[in-house]
Amino acid sequence: MSDKLRFDASKFEVKTYEVDGRRITCRAFEGVEYCENPADGIQKMNIYVPEQYYHEDGKNPEQNPAGYDLQSAPIFMPNTVGGYMQGPAMTPGIDHMNGGANSAFEALCHGYVVACAGIRGRNTGMNSSEVFVGGSIEDVQSAGGKLVGRAPALIVDMKAAIRYLRHNAGLVPGNVERIVTNGTSAGGALSAMTGATGNSADYAPYLQEIGAADERDDIFAASCYCPIHNLENADTAYEWLFNKETTWTRMHMRRAENGSMERFEETGALPASQIALSKELKDAFPAYVNSLGLKDENENALTLDAEGNGSFKEYVKAFVIAAAQKELDTHWSINSCPKMVPGSSVEEQAYLTIEDGKVTDLDWDGYVHAITRMKTVPAFDDLALMSPECEEFGDDEVYARHFTAAAQKHSAVPSEIADDAKIKLLNPVRYIGSADSAPHWRIRHGAYDRDTAIAIPTILATLLKNNGYDVDFALPWGLPHSGDYDLDQLFAWIDGLCK
Ligand code: DHB
Repeated sequence: MSDKLRFDASKFEVKTYEVDGRRITCRAFEGVEYCENPADGIQKMNIYVPEQYYHEDGKNPEQNPAGYDLQSAPIFMPNTVGGYMQGPAMTPGIDHMNGGANSAFEALCHGYVVACAGIRGRNTGMNSSEVFVGGSIEDVQSAGGKLVGRAPALIVDMKAAIRYLRHNAGLVPGNVERIVTNGTSAGGALSAMTGATGNSADYAPYLQEIGAADERDDIFAASCYCPIHNLENADTAYEWLFNKETTWTRMHMRRAENGSMERFEETGALPASQIALSKELKDAFPAYVNSLGLKDENENALTLDAEGNGSFKEYVKAFVIAAAQKELDTHWSINSCPKMVPGSSVEEQAYLTIEDGKVTDLDWDGYVHAITRMKTVPAFDDLALMSPECEEFGDDEVYARHFTAAAQKHSAVPSEIADDAKIKLLNPVRYIGSADSAPHWRIRHGAYDRDTAIAIPTILATLLKNNGYDVDFALPWGLPHSGDYDLDQLFAWIDGLCK
């Protein structure tokens, strides 16, 4: 074993974190280098362990309801990636997106070992203060550096951190065979990539380059909130859903003078050229869906006809109806989610047919109109290369690239298209069935999320189920693009699997 990648169990500080009057004392192993040749200072991991695990007499059942110990505790791995930007290693504290405690704090209080890897992103090596849902709010100030965080750096870093933990099995706290990743949006995509691509040889040269340990990198479970993934098919999916919606509205976040986040809204109408492109993209989506060979629970094929109608659409619709029914039965979102979209309460929706407390139908176009279009056309592979995703496929030589043939064909600027091999490295869907994917999955996408089309997480969940994986997939009612809003339920799911 290389000494450089050996975990030093004596190098810790005992720290106490407090949020809203709740306290947790832990052993904090911070700034652990998880690879031998890091390309950037962000590639460090923080590991936190409930201090009570080191004191046999002092176990507090309130802070360890599932009764774990130093060896058995699952290792919870949250990331702070948003917008494909770099995600510094989380520390327990406040969640600046949701308010309240962050997932590291909650997971520690729950009795998990928490391992937070810092992850490179598209803004590594440059100045930036962009902010995305689920992401870190820390500014990056390293202009003049090299852009070493572009695809596939994020997944390479997460794999290297997992390999580090495995390399130190028995030395690191927690059970390295019970690693659970968690993230939101691009961070949810990272969690999905990590879950899907376990031990794939495709990443070997990149892992070697940063000096990752030569170990397995498959995980036990992936928790993915609104994963912005399957990028090369996300534009066609988006127009399949939003083709009839020709105006768009989006919220941007920026830092106010006092340092806090403020939101502002932008709206617009699609020009004729984008309306035409929307139809072209929408028309391409059925062929993709039909190529996947998806099946429902009764082995019926899930397909779309040339108009974009068919069993796949009915299947997606059934998930939305189930979400509405759950809300009608429990009112969980309206009672517990301050982030719920205004005007989305289940009883208010004219597009739902509700009879005797049962949601019996949903008018698809009415639903799509209610959730509204957020993005212009194409939604991800921007014709002027201005999207986060185009940057993600850039590098030090070419700042941004297209990643779909359609956008390359219609490009508004001199451009090139990324290699398919690189595009594949970022797409979990393309590894299901050919890698050591995680056995357990929890996927959440708010029923009012419009950052990516609802078809995208549905495809991920269905393909996983069809390949025999255990999948808990739901569309929490009224929720926009967001994550970590139901950590108590997430932890109950993890505990159920680890018992
Ligand atoms: C995120 C949101 C997007 O709409 C997108 O295209 C990429 C990333 C995010 O919040 O991480």
